[in-house]
Amino acid sequence: MKMRILGTGSYVPERIVTNDDLAQIVETSDEWISTRTGIRERRITEGEGTSHLAAEAARRALDMAGVAPEEIDLILLGTSTPDNCFPSGACEVQGAVGAVNAVAYDISAACSGFIFALNTAQAFFEAGIYKKALIIGCDVLSKIVDWEDRSTCVLFGDGAGAVVAAAEEGDGFRMVMGSDGSRGASMTCPSRTNDNFLTGKKPEAGFTSMEGQEIFKFAVKKVPECTGKLLEENGLSKEDIRYFVLHQANYRIVEAIAKRMKLPIDRFPMNIEKYGNTSGATIPILLDELNREGKLEKGDRIVLSGFGAGLTWGASLIQW
Ligand code: ACO
Repeated sequence: MKMRILGTGSYVPERIVTNDDLAQIVETSDEWISTRTGIRERRITEGEGTSHLAAEAARRALDMAGVAPEEIDLILLGTSTPDNCFPSGACEVQGAVGAVNAVAYDISAACSGFIFALNTAQAFFEAGIYKKALIIGCDVLSKIVDWEDRSTCVLFGDGAGAVVAAAEEGDGFRMVMGSDGSRGASMTCPSRTNDNFLTGKKPEAGFTSMEGQEIFKFAVKKVPECTGKLLEENGLSKEDIRYFVLHQANYRIVEAIAKRMKLPIDRFPMNIEKYGNTSGATIPILLDELNREGKLEKGDRIVLSGFGAGLTWGASLIQW
């Protein structure tokens, strides 16, 4: 069985925070942020959490697909910022949209979360276990960055993207995923679990920290490597691909990848300027924008590729 995308949806909070706005909070400038990252503004929630954003994106994807929530048998939410330890964000989305016949759970793979969720759904389709899935990537990084740390807070934003996919007769594409837990220290955010039984202290919030240049080098090496493997395993060449929809962490990363892959930059659509890095949500938000702008035609092959904390990376192939 293969996977067909029936509908896409996305949702970002209304509040726009520009680089100039951030310069009021930390010592930074529009010039520094935009030349190094390509980001000009991002959306920040006014209290709403991951489940709210994810459910909105899910409703839009279901609406476009013309699929009733009861038809969905699998909900996967790629997130590293769930509102609660439990219940999972996916279960909250299930409750919010009324997908009463689905099994729902979260997948934690940081910025690779949506790719890991999409590939997991595809594997279930191929095994004949589930037939219609709601796959979501959603993060609210604004809740886990330190707003006094200029080296991280300027990079991120909040948002959600979703697809509704169905199993269809035919051979599915091969997929690629990987992780390297020995390099986890290069990007971390501690959870609230701690030894409070021993210490008697209340848990404190942890914040995101990262070795920016390590992540840069990792992304520029891994994405060409894993998309190359993806194409090879599917017997395709770079020329067979309409778009490479990559995780939007930094426009310089995408440019360096395009150069390394010897492909023109217009095959790598970007929207980081408007949203910053929304972690697990960047790929499905961008896919939804391309779809709604009419840029995807029937038969187009699209490579999706993400990379993130863990370290984790992966690539998926879809045909429109
Ligand atoms: N405004 C102004 N100055 C700043 C800011 C800021 N927001 N942040 C850091 N600086 C300063 C630093 O203090 C440092 O000053 P110093 O030289 O006086 O010590 C100087 O700028 C250079 O700092 P670096 O951290 O070395 O900056 P770098 O050139 O590496 O750029 C960046 C940082 C943009 C994060 C870069 O490393 C990068 O692109 N990394 C890719 C990783 C990435 O984008 N991660 C996002 C999330 S990860 C993911 O999605 C998987």
